[in-house]
Amino acid sequence: MTTTMEGSAAHRDDPATDSLLVRACRGRPVPHSPVWFMRQAGRSLPEYRKVRAGIPMLEACRRPELVAEVTLQPVRRHGVDAAILFSDIVVPVAEAGIDLHIEPGVGPVVAEPIRTQADLERLRPLDPTDVSYIDEAVRLLVGELGATPLIGFAGAPFTLASYLIEGGPSRTHAKTKAMMYGEPELWHALCARLAEITLEFLRVQVRGGVSAVQLFDSWAGALSDADYRRFVLPHSAHVLTGLSGAGVPRIHFGVGTAQLLTAMAEAGADVVGVDWRTPLDTAMAQIGPERAVQGNLDPCVLFAPWPVIQREVLRVLEEGRAAPGHVFNLGHGVLPDTDPDVLTRVVTLVHEASAR
Ligand code: CP3
Repeated sequence: MTTTMEGSAAHRDDPATDSLLVRACRGRPVPHSPVWFMRQAGRSLPEYRKVRAGIPMLEACRRPELVAEVTLQPVRRHGVDAAILFSDIVVPVAEAGIDLHIEPGVGPVVAEPIRTQADLERLRPLDPTDVSYIDEAVRLLVGELGATPLIGFAGAPFTLASYLIEGGPSRTHAKTKAMMYGEPELWHALCARLAEITLEFLRVQVRGGVSAVQLFDSWAGALSDADYRRFVLPHSAHVLTGLSGAGVPRIHFGVGTAQLLTAMAEAGADVVGVDWRTPLDTAMAQIGPERAVQGNLDPCVLFAPWPVIQREVLRVLEEGRAAPGHVFNLGHGVLPDTDPDVLTRVVTLVHEASAR
């Protein structure tokens, strides 16, 4: 059975399923707020740089033992309440036929960007066997993590489309929007294909035993609410609603999305990830009273003196009380220069200050 979610029921009795993370995502009572950090596995950790040395990023993502080791590093070091699978949002499109690599300090770079219908033919559907190393890594990790939940993830259609169309990171997303406005049929065909690939990629992770999934639409904040609803929401909704029977909470995250929070919730999220620009209690007014929130300390605050960090963490916790559940996180990923010891202190502070 590759297209149904029955396999996910097998891990429902696991301790990770009753973890603080899953409880908070479901708006159930927790003894203290769970905390993890986007990009917690990565270049802020010396032990990461050591095991990654000389191995290109995509190659690293294809080695299950290495994936497991890098995923576990921040759990061991910081005592975070969740692990996030070490991989990248472009992994499934690389396996679905797109020639790309991940350039250190730059991000994903696509050899031949997708601009035409003929280009689109190069992007084929993802077969679960294309990413069997992901299945293997998830199973290894679930075994090693015990009661600590593993978060699976994927990139949302808009953010993936932007990399494929632009050929790399973009500040304006000009070529992406040119296709969206100028060739809406091609745009929707591309996003529909990406949504299928993303859904299949997440299903592999759910069958492997992840306890929650996060859909990263990092660059969706570049859009107005009207354009998001017209050009993007149906495709992200296809992914999120496709997992509605999977038995795992779905976190939907983007950056600069103050104008999109209602729509991103409506797309089928159980939890809405909020960046640092919008206070969580303000965000709740848009997200609605039935969903949990995740966020939202500014990653740059971690470079401030400890009393400032402390004040900001307490503020985020206070604002998060407006929601039925709050998963403490940053408002975007850990920056590479962050002092790892500060992250550890933040974990302890969140645990102590949110105890109830
Ligand atoms: O969160 C985690 O710790 C899990 C691992 C993870 C990575 N990428 C590892 C990675 C996750 C969840 C991602 C998601 C991802 N990748 C996103 C969405 C999240 C976000 O930041 O908005 C995006 C947009 C990408 C694309 C991408 N991949 C970028 C922008 C970069 C950074 C380029 C750089 O070097 O500054 C990457 C590379 C990448 N992905 C690294 C890691 C650890 C760095 C690779 C290295 O160490 O050389």
